[in-house]
Amino acid sequence: MSKIGIFFGTDTGSTRLVAKNIFKQLGEELADKPKNINRTSAAELLQYDALILGAPSYGMGELPGLTTGCLEPNWQEFVPYLDGADLSGKRVALFGLGNQERYADRFASSMIHLYRLFYGYGAGIIGCWSTDGYKFEHSHAVIDNQFVGLVLDQRTQPHLTDERIKIWLAQIIPQLLPVMARVA
Ligand SMILES: Cc1cc2nc3c(=O)[nH]c(=O)nc-3n(C[C@H](O)[C@H](O)[C@H](O)COP(=O)(O)O)c2cc1C
Repeated sequence: MSKIGIFFGTDTGSTRLVAKNIFKQLGEELADKPKNINRTSAAELLQYDALILGAPSYGMGELPGLTTGCLEPNWQEFVPYLDGADLSGKRVALFGLGNQERYADRFASSMIHLYRLFYGYGAGIIGCWSTDGYKFEHSHAVIDNQFVGLVLDQRTQPHLTDERIKIWLAQIIPQLLPVMARVA
């Protein structure tokens, strides 16, 4: 597929809005409309070689899903469908939502599970993001002093979201274009 696939999980709608914002900033030429992961088949996701995947954090930093109190299926219910998939050659950029004031001890932690999962299946993970500008104690989603993807806080820093997305997309688009061109 010669476009970027955007998939998200959400419980209260914020991650959907952020996914739509990302889509709007990318434009229809580069990306397909974002899709809720609870209405996505594995085949649908795997048709893309360039992926942007988003997740909110719930529970104690697990993947969001029914066991973390989400009302609808989320990433937790989707990931078993990927079992055994070969994602080599694909590039994946991650974004995660959280609340750094209320959940400072496990800020935006769920993103680490998508990182490990997709990396484990052979995908190249791109789009790490500086922790500068956030105030938190701990996040499982930090490796080598950087978040493994873009982190957004719609509760305490919504005014920074547009600009953060803009900067992040400028960073990842050049890394996504080559894998899209391969199949165009
Ligand atoms: C019950 C509950 C648990 C949460 N747990 C975390 C958490 O562990 N870490 C974090 O950073 N944010 C946590 N949050 C904040 C959400 O991740 C944040 O509000 C996010 O924007 C929600 O996204 P959604 O509207 O797409 O579901 C929690 C929120 C609720 C209501």
